[in-house]
Amino acid sequence: VRMVFMGPPGAGKGTQSNLIKNKYCVCHLSTGDMLRAAVAAGTPFGKKAKEIMDAGGLVSDEIMVGMIRDELENNQECQRGFILDGFPRTVPQAEKLDEMLEQRGQQLDHAVELAIDDALLVSRITGRLIHAPSGRSYHREFNPPRVPNRDDVTGEPLMQRPDDNAETLKKRLATYHKQTTPVVGYYQKRGIWRRVDASKSPAAVWGTLQAIFAAKS
Ligand code: AP5
Ligand code: ZN
Repeated sequence: VRMVFMGPPGAGKGTQSNLIKNKYCVCHLSTGDMLRAAVAAGTPFGKKAKEIMDAGGLVSDEIMVGMIRDELENNQECQRGFILDGFPRTVPQAEKLDEMLEQRGQQLDHAVELAIDDALLVSRITGRLIHAPSGRSYHREFNPPRVPNRDDVTGEPLMQRPDDNAETLKKRLATYHKQTTPVVGYYQKRGIWRRVDASKSPAAVWGTLQAIFAAKS
């Protein structure tokens, strides 16, 4: 599987990426997780990224493309396939990705949009808990961890993301509609775009995705 996952904040990109990664043994590259790792490392870049993320904006195309290029070239796990979660987020990022893949003699199999109404996202975002080191996400109500506030795999504590509040969500959604929606058109023209109803349960969304992958392989 070589795919990109699009969809607004809280649509379920991270949740479904984990399922795909476990089934198909491909790498899961979440640019949001990468940025949060840079923030946690406290580098000067991390500090700048934190400001942008907390304001619901986008980090520059150049930096994001560099991060993805680095992983595609050096991460052995990505040779078998990859899921790009939250990248590309702008048309220039999508163009650069195509260039990178072309140089590697590869192409995307799927561009999947997890589509859902903005109104349904508030409760998903404000109830989310994450295991920061792995990027695994849970939900207080919809997907609770086995032990309250603890990661299922490591037992480590869970936390809330600083950008997971109603006010920042509004800004993230505005950014998504303005800057990322045009990427849908980009992949529509290429004929690899699929729209999946992300308002369904995680299991139902997972079922739809597996059918899409099975039809193409
Ligand atoms: P990023 O981390 O990518 O955030 P996002 O796009 O806002 O998406 P989320 O991670 O919030 O949502 P998700 O779709 O992964 O949902 P999840 O599966 O966790 O980016 C953060 C920031 O980094 C950006 O705002 C930007 O500043 C910057 N950035 C990142 N990439 C960039 C790029 N390429 N260029 C520039 N800047 C970039 O699910 C959400 C919750 O709902 C969870 O609690 C989950 O348990 C629950 N849930 C999931 N599915 C379901 C379901 N079907 N039913 C009920 N609950 C569900
Ligand atoms: Zn995510």
